[in-house]
Amino acid sequence: KRVVLAYSGGLDTSVAIPWLHEQGYEVVTVTADLGANQDLKAIQEKALQVGAVRAYVVDVRDYFAQHYVIPTIQANALYEGQYPLASALSRPLISELLVSVAHQEAAEAVAHGCTGKGNDQVRFDVAIAALDPALEVLAPVREWGMTRDEEITYAEQHHVPIPVTRRSPYSVDVNIWGRSAEGGAIEDPSQPVPEDAFEWTKNPGETDPSGTTLTIEFEAGVPVAVNGERPPLHELVETLNRIAGSEGVGRIHMVENRLVGIKSHEVYEAPAAVTLVTAHRALEQLVLTRDLAHLKARLEPEYAELVYYGMWYSPARLSLDAFMREANRMTTGKVTVKLAQGRIEVLGLESPVSLYHTGLATYSTGDQFDHKAAKGFVDLWGLPIRTRSRVSPLASAH
Ligand code: ARG
Ligand code: SIN
Repeated sequence: KRVVLAYSGGLDTSVAIPWLHEQGYEVVTVTADLGANQDLKAIQEKALQVGAVRAYVVDVRDYFAQHYVIPTIQANALYEGQYPLASALSRPLISELLVSVAHQEAAEAVAHGCTGKGNDQVRFDVAIAALDPALEVLAPVREWGMTRDEEITYAEQHHVPIPVTRRSPYSVDVNIWGRSAEGGAIEDPSQPVPEDAFEWTKNPGETDPSGTTLTIEFEAGVPVAVNGERPPLHELVETLNRIAGSEGVGRIHMVENRLVGIKSHEVYEAPAAVTLVTAHRALEQLVLTRDLAHLKARLEPEYAELVYYGMWYSPARLSLDAFMREANRMTTGKVTVKLAQGRIEVLGLESPVSLYHTGLATYSTGDQFDHKAAKGFVDLWGLPIRTRSRVSPLASAH
């Protein structure tokens, strides 16, 4: 029997290798390079050392940016209005990798290292079911019920190296779209989050007030350039993480509602995501018709919820995706933003397809708005109210 394990190199997924062995499986590992800046060579060697028969490492940064990050920018997707969904987006992509390696390796099962309390287990299990409903999904950490200490004892017995280096007191997940931290001192929402929970962002109170001004260019809702430079999207995102993070932009604290019913206090750092969604939204103000802008704003939270809840491959998310793509057809132009002390200020908007007409908007000379037409419009707009009021006056309630 063969199983393909999503392997991060951490203690849980390393212990999972001998544990799966004991269940009678030959283990093949897959590690996705999502831009977390890890030592991937060392992770691969560790998998083999701990007993994997093969250890794949796949650079999916560009694929992630093209197929996962772009749709989320186009949908301005933020769960509960705040979280840009970095971890939620990576799970269906890692699932894609697991399934394709499982086919290549003729494996009958895949495995991941999620606990039974989180969202990630849902995202993996559901995405894998969507891609190959015949594959068995194993979740060793969810099944084995070991405490941290038992896990360490088990690791020692099975010659699994326990990271001696400073173990982060938090549970952290990282990719180019953001970094999440939970657990440890973050668990108490009555207390300020310790500064050591943050790695990508400077404390906004300690940054230079002069900040940084950037011009971001979009084509059909896709960010294509920053200050005239046109790197591949994943590099553009990584650059923005550095620049915006150094201005304290992109720190998110929230008590969020997990799908499994619990509330958790987590912090995110997503400097590029917050900057790009803010800039994208601003540009939409210039180019979307009113009805599309309002309709889209109602669907955006639905989109974010579907992603958060593990429904990436659902017909509902795919249908909304088609809507979002079409709704971004005219979102082309330049947005100038100032990033300073944790804040983003939009300084300027420009678009070749702008719907903003000075001739219609101005109160000064050159006004082209038809003031006479307004009178008839207002008469008809108010007609139902006037009719109702004649039947029985609509007096103020106070
Ligand atoms: N709460 C976030 C989410 O559900 C972050 C999860 C991070 N995952 C992790 N294994 N540390 O998307
Ligand atoms: C986990 O419990 O495996 C990580 C947290 C989450 O999935 O929300």
